Amino acid sequence: MFILITSFVVGIFCQNTNYANTNWNKVQGLPSMNATLENYEQLLWLVNISIGVPAQNFSVQVDTGSNILWVPYSVCSNCDINTRYNPSGQSYFKPNGSNYYQAYGSGECSGYVASDIVNIQNTVINTTFTMMFATMEQGFSFPTIMDGIMGISNNQSFTNIFQASFKAGQIKTELYGLVFNQPPLNSYLIFGQINPSLMNQVQWVTPNDIYRWKLFINKFTINGQDYSSQMGSVTSAILDSGTADLIVTEALYGILLKTYLIPAGCIQSGSLYCPCQPTAQELQYLPNITVSFNVVDVTIPFFNLLQNYYVAPQGQQCQVMLTYTSGPPFMVFGDPALLSIIPIFNKTANQIGIIGGVANGIPNGDYPGNEEIDEA
Ligand SMILES: *[C@@H]1O[C@H](CO)[C@@H](O)[C@H](O)[C@H]1NC(C)=O
Ligand SMILES: *[C@@H]1O[C@H](CO)[C@@H](O)[C@H](O)[C@H]1NC(C)=O
Ligand SMILES: *[C@@H]1O[C@H](CO)[C@@H](O)[C@H](O)[C@H]1NC(C)=O
Ligand SMILES: *[C@@H]1O[C@H](CO)[C@@H](O)[C@H](O)[C@H]1NC(C)=O
Ligand SMILES: *[C@@H]1O[C@H](CO)[C@@H](O)[C@H](O)[C@H]1NC(C)=O
Ligand SMILES: *[C@@H]1O[C@H](CO)[C@@H](O)[C@H](O)[C@H]1NC(C)=O
Ligand SMILES: *[C@@H]1O[C@H](CO)[C@@H](O)[C@H](O)[C@H]1NC(C)=O
Ligand SMILES: *[C@@H]1O[C@H](CO)[C@@H](O)[C@H](O)[C@H]1NC(C)=O
Repeated sequence: MFILITSFVVGIFCQNTNYANTNWNKVQGLPSMNATLENYEQLLWLVNISIGVPAQNFSVQVDTGSNILWVPYSVCSNCDINTRYNPSGQSYFKPNGSNYYQAYGSGECSGYVASDIVNIQNTVINTTFTMMFATMEQGFSFPTIMDGIMGISNNQSFTNIFQASFKAGQIKTELYGLVFNQPPLNSYLIFGQINPSLMNQVQWVTPNDIYRWKLFINKFTINGQDYSSQMGSVTSAILDSGTADLIVTEALYGILLKTYLIPAGCIQSGSLYCPCQPTAQELQYLPNITVSFNVVDVTIPFFNLLQNYYVAPQGQQCQVMLTYTSGPPFMVFGDPALLSIIPIFNKTANQIGIIGGVANGIPNGDYPGNEEIDEA
């Protein structure tokens, strides 16, 4: 059974010319310091960490859209996650006396603030870090898959794990980046000394927010057609690895549906589904979205919106990871966008380096933000 599935996956992989849309081809032969990420169904990207001495292991979701690192505490009466941190016999565990509460798009948690030694997957990152040990946690979609969340947002009121490790002299820079890929290719969290040949391809963009990795969008096009006016007042997007979807405005979603997806043979049945292996005719309609993030044009190829298309047989429908929001005044560019680029974050400088975009000549201006809204 297992061998059958494996050969089947490889067979599809060989046929799939769209595979080159992933980041992988760009990082071949360009090693940086890194930790391997587990890609769970293109819905979660997880990294193995250990906390404490002696070490206790956790697999936490890597989330550029939130602030804190947390795992459940041993005494957690209202917790769905079974992997818990046990403070007994720990040499470095140090509660700081405060409590903390965090809400997410889905899920919430609260607990004790404490510091301990945090190690990322046996790499040089092994430093004292302040985090939360949850005594309540509920509403998360995959409590049996993830043991917690590692927030690595842009919130300038927080020191993240890379900044802490950099300050401790363990890594040479405070940079971190995400190389998201579709399996069977590996995904990586890269950090510290990132290979110069990769850094040479970076185009730096200034976020219009000091809390989130949020970028102003100068232009929004679908298959070359300009729909910028349909953004209305929502002219920014956050880069959020903790969201599995591309979340656009309701007006843009309507256009994508009526003008592109329905003509391409996609169907709405609860969620949105499209042919996993479209015909040439269907392909003409399927939308490739290009946005201008100030200086750089980023294209999100349609295939990066299809969940698990690379393992789906001919004739099958794949779920489209696309939805709309009428909540926060910014779009949420989740994993489909992060599959399309390699983002490098310099939180100290409040800069995002984008690898995989095309320079467009638009100046890197001081664009308006939406700083008044607070949502994780
Ligand atoms: C990750 O690190 C390993 C070991 O140093 C190296 O062989 C590999 O090429 C690196 N991968 C990336 C994507 O940088
Ligand atoms: C994380 O740890 C688990 C348990 O040891 C292991 O099965 C898995 O392969 C590890 N994941 C990565 C991405 O290294
Ligand atoms: C934690 O994970 C490491 C591999 O990263 C492994 O060597 C070790 O045995 C694990 N510890 C426990 C308690 O499972
Ligand atoms: C405890 O940690 C929080 C969050 O990092 C911090 O704001 C607070 O000042 C700390 N309290 C003490 C007493 O160190
Ligand atoms: C991390 O640091 C602690 C405290 O210095 C040490 O005991 C532990 O062996 C280190 N772990 C790794 C993987 O380097
Ligand atoms: C969308 O991009 C794919 C490559 O990712 C390409 O094959 C396809 O022709 C493009 N579609 C349109 C309508 O330009
Ligand atoms: C990150 O930004 C800081 C602050 O501007 C700067 O000092 C540092 O050199 C930057 N790091 C890299 C590797 O570019
Ligand atoms: C940023 O961090 C501060 C300090 O904890 C917090 O009060 C604020 O809500 C955070 N803002 C966002 C947008 O996460």
